[in-house]
Amino acid sequence: MEKVYYTKPSITDLEIAYVNDAIRTGWGEKCYDYIKRFETAFAQYLKVEYALATASCSGAIHLALASLGIGEGDEVIVPETTWVATASPVLYLGAKPVFVDIEADTWCINPEKIREAITPRTKAIMVVHLYGNIAKMNEIMQIAHEHNLYVIEDAAEALGSVYQGRQVGSIGDMAVFSFHGTKTMTTGEGGMLVTNNSALIQQARMLNDHGRVAGEPKMFFPHHLGYKYKISNLQAALGLAQTERLADLVAHKIWVFQTYKKYLGDLACLTWNCEPEGTENCFWLPTIVFDKALNVDMPRLLAIFKENQIDTRTFFYPLSSLPFLDSVPTNVVAYDLCTRAVNLPSYFELTEAQIKRVADCVRVFLNL
Ligand SMILES: Cc1ncc(COP(=O)(O)O)c(C=O)c1O
Repeated sequence: MEKVYYTKPSITDLEIAYVNDAIRTGWGEKCYDYIKRFETAFAQYLKVEYALATASCSGAIHLALASLGIGEGDEVIVPETTWVATASPVLYLGAKPVFVDIEADTWCINPEKIREAITPRTKAIMVVHLYGNIAKMNEIMQIAHEHNLYVIEDAAEALGSVYQGRQVGSIGDMAVFSFHGTKTMTTGEGGMLVTNNSALIQQARMLNDHGRVAGEPKMFFPHHLGYKYKISNLQAALGLAQTERLADLVAHKIWVFQTYKKYLGDLACLTWNCEPEGTENCFWLPTIVFDKALNVDMPRLLAIFKENQIDTRTFFYPLSSLPFLDSVPTNVVAYDLCTRAVNLPSYFELTEAQIKRVADCVRVFLNL
């Protein structure tokens, strides 16, 4: 039986040609050429002014928070359900992540709960567009405006999702993307920081160059404590090819989701990634939530998938349930959803027959 992975990149002759060219010619005075082309192409896709390619999305988050001047004593609002990379850089900077519950339908941060979590120390709101789903950006931007807070969109999982005609990641003050090998487009490891704010991108570029200030005549003389989260020209060559194919990569993700719905859409006991009016979900990971009344036995479901050579992922645990963080059990939606939801495989080469195989496992689990 052929194994079904949960995600896998799509690499064509275009990617191979660009990477070959970068390794043969991308040195000396051309050592940043692919990086510049990648940043330009990505910014054009998103319709934002500035893009800074990084070694990872985690690094991009650290840079974004540092560029906003977040530090000791500050609070940053973070959704309870996300990968830990959204919150860790808040801690690196000596600030405090304040975990806010998600909504039962979007699985993204609940705007009303954000209001309740704001204190005089709050400096920023991190928004995560989970599994391709889109947070309620209008409401969140309004709250940020009222309280003079920055908004960072963590769009690691939502490249290609559209909110009221705008790509996600083009709405907040800054946004970040991930190009880890499991994402819709990849550079192996990699990320991108984007913004429309020229002062913020300058700050981010300076910090990403170990704090060296433009115009300083001495060569190795940083003015500030900085970082180095740079991407390589080789990875950027791969990223450029993937960006040129992005419309196709996203369209395929949507097809995979629709094909799951074709085989499982009749089951009223399942809730799926949502796509409210005015949004287009990129469906990075098709996700099903089983009705509470079913009292699902998750280990049994995962065992059925495993027996059938299918890789799946469980929904994220609430961050506040991790051993090194203080728990916030009042975030009841996040604490509940993770007990009865699972991510289904999705990648470019996934066939309809393989999708049906995954769907059949769900039916076996439900004794259908
Ligand atoms: C929501 C979210 N934020 C941040 C990250 C971090 O991305 P990276 O692995 O590129 O550092 C991920 C990656 O898995 C993610 O899913």
